[in-house]
Amino acid sequence: MSGSPARPAVAVVGGGVIGLSCAWQLAESGCQVELFDPAPGQGASHAAAGMLAPVSEATYGEEALLAAGLASAQAWPRFAAHLIEASGIDVGLRQEGSLLVGHDPDDAQQLRRLGALLERHGLEAEPLTARQARSLEPALSPRTASALSVPGDHSVDNRRLVTALTVAAERAGTRLHRGPAQPVMQGGAVVGVRHPGASAVHRADLVVLAAGVATSSVAGLPAHALPPVRPVKGQILRLRGAAGLLSRTVRALVSGVPVYLVPRADGELVVGATTEDVGLDRRVTAGAVLELLRAAAAVVPEVGELELGEALARFRPATPDNLPAVGLTDVPALAVATGHHRGGVLLAPLTAQAVVSLALGRPAPAAAGPLSPTRFAAAVERSAS
Ligand code: GLY
Repeated sequence: MSGSPARPAVAVVGGGVIGLSCAWQLAESGCQVELFDPAPGQGASHAAAGMLAPVSEATYGEEALLAAGLASAQAWPRFAAHLIEASGIDVGLRQEGSLLVGHDPDDAQQLRRLGALLERHGLEAEPLTARQARSLEPALSPRTASALSVPGDHSVDNRRLVTALTVAAERAGTRLHRGPAQPVMQGGAVVGVRHPGASAVHRADLVVLAAGVATSSVAGLPAHALPPVRPVKGQILRLRGAAGLLSRTVRALVSGVPVYLVPRADGELVVGATTEDVGLDRRVTAGAVLELLRAAAAVVPEVGELELGEALARFRPATPDNLPAVGLTDVPALAVATGHHRGGVLLAPLTAQAVVSLALGRPAPAAAGPLSPTRFAAAVERSAS
C-alpha cells in the first residue's frame, strides 16, 4: 500500500498456516490485526505433512516456484526459532534432510532424471547405492533399487506449528474471531470485513484473503480480482508407534506411485499423500488408504506393524501455473495469499514477509515478485484482445 498509515489496520480472512503466519508477522510489525476463521488451523494445515522440501519437489519448468521455495526454506530456521521464543511451543523442526528412494528399476530411472535436474540447478543432492541408503535408514526394504540424499530438505510438525502460530499471533496483539467474514466494498475499494448477515463493519486499511481453496469464491468482490484456485484433494495417514523407525523424511516412488513417510518426534509417522482432481469430495476412500499403505510398506516393511491412527482428506489450493498468488489485487486495499498447493508450510515465511512488506509499503522480497495475483487478470485481458 502506498502512503500506508504508521499502524495499518489489517483484516486477515483465513486462519491456516498462511493466514496465521501473516497475522503473527503483521502484528509483530506494529499492524492492528484481526483474523477471521470459523475453525482456525483445521483445513489443509491440519493434514499437511510439514515438509520443507523445495529440492525434492523441484519440477521441470517451475523455476519461479523453486526460487520461492528455496528463499522460504532459507528463512525457516530463523522463523522457527523466533516462533518458539514468541509462543513457548516447540514446532518440531527436524533438520536431518530427506532421502529419496526408487523402489524398482523404473523408479530408479525417474530418480536419476530428478538428480540430473537438481544438478543442472546446482542443488545439493547425492546419489546413493541401496546399501548406502540402508546404512542411513536401516528400516528401508532390502528391495530398494536406488536413492538420492537431499540434505537441505527438512520438516516441521504442522499441528504444533498451527498451535504456536495461534499463540504467537494472539500474544503479538492479533484479535482472533472464530467465525466467517466477507470483505465490504465502498466506492470501488475494500474498506473492511463483516460477518455474513451482520451490519457492523470491521474497518481495515488492508484485507488479506488467505482462505485456501475458498479464496476464489469469496462473496461480494468482482470475480476478476480473485485468483483462480482449484481444490486438489490429498488423502493422508498418521501411523503411530514408529519411534526410531526413520530418522529423516523418506520420499519414494513405488512402481510409479509417489509416497512420503515423515517421522515426528512423538513416534507418529505421516504417510501421504494422494493427489486428486476430484473437486470438493471430502471422503476418505478405502482405495486411497490401500494405495498409500501398500506403497509405504513396500518402502519400509515395518509399516504394516504400526497402528493406523488417522486417515484424513483435505484440499490443497492450486492455481493454473502452480505458483501461489500473494500480493495486492487490482481492487484497492485487497490482497490475497493463497494458491500454495503442495507448499503452504514451506512458503509461510516468505508469504508472511511479502504481506508485511505490502502492508507497510516496503519492497517485497524478490522471490515473491512472480507470485503477484494480477498475473491472472493480465492473462484474461491478453486472451480477450
Ligand atoms: N507437500 C505434500 C503434499 O502436498 O502432499
